[in-house]
Amino acid sequence: MKPLIFIREPQTPKEFVAYYLVRYEVLRKPWNKTEGSEKDEIENDCVHAMACDENNNVMGVCRLQFNTETEAQLRYMAVVKNAQGTGVGKALIDFMEWKAIEKGSEKIILQSRENAVGFYKKCGYTIVEKSFLMWGEIQHYLMEKKL
Ligand SMILES: CC(C)(COP(=O)(O)OP(=O)(O)OC[C@H]1O[C@@H](n2cnc3c(N)ncnc32)[C@H](O)[C@@H]1OP(=O)(O)O)[C@@H](O)C(=O)NCCC(=O)NCCS
Repeated sequence: MKPLIFIREPQTPKEFVAYYLVRYEVLRKPWNKTEGSEKDEIENDCVHAMACDENNNVMGVCRLQFNTETEAQLRYMAVVKNAQGTGVGKALIDFMEWKAIEKGSEKIILQSRENAVGFYKKCGYTIVEKSFLMWGEIQHYLMEKKL
């Protein structure tokens, strides 16, 4: 059964801890990366979104940054294992696309891990090019969607 999904921006320090923890657990820990490696220097300038269930457990997270007046970029998309495939990722993308439109963005780009390319295609993104290899093993693809 599909869970109830509530998308919102983390507000309190406690919510930000839960938010970054999902990022770390899904995108860094499996590759033995250190805590802290899930953040970068522009977090304060970005839009952050988290998907919660009805008990306020964080099921997924995502970040939107603004590269130029017209181009936004999705980063750090992560859904916890037991919630994957239940619509959480799609709901986060929908939310961030509205945020980008509100800001006047005309296009969203992203760097997709190879395993997630099919997901982004389902969300309307197309491959621009094969881009870089992260940590010597995770192939990335530059993808985009016109808003
Ligand atoms: C990739 C990821 C973000 C997708 O989120 P999700 O919540 O599992 O996906 P959803 O349930 O919203 O799926 C939306 C649609 O995409 C499809 N889909 C989901 N993951 C897919 C995948 N890896 N390949 C192909 N299709 C996929 C779903 O079947 C669904 O299709 P439907 O609309 O026809 O039912 C999530 O699985 C994840 O966090 N994976 C591990 C971390 C990762 O790779 N993050 C991306 C970094 S770039």
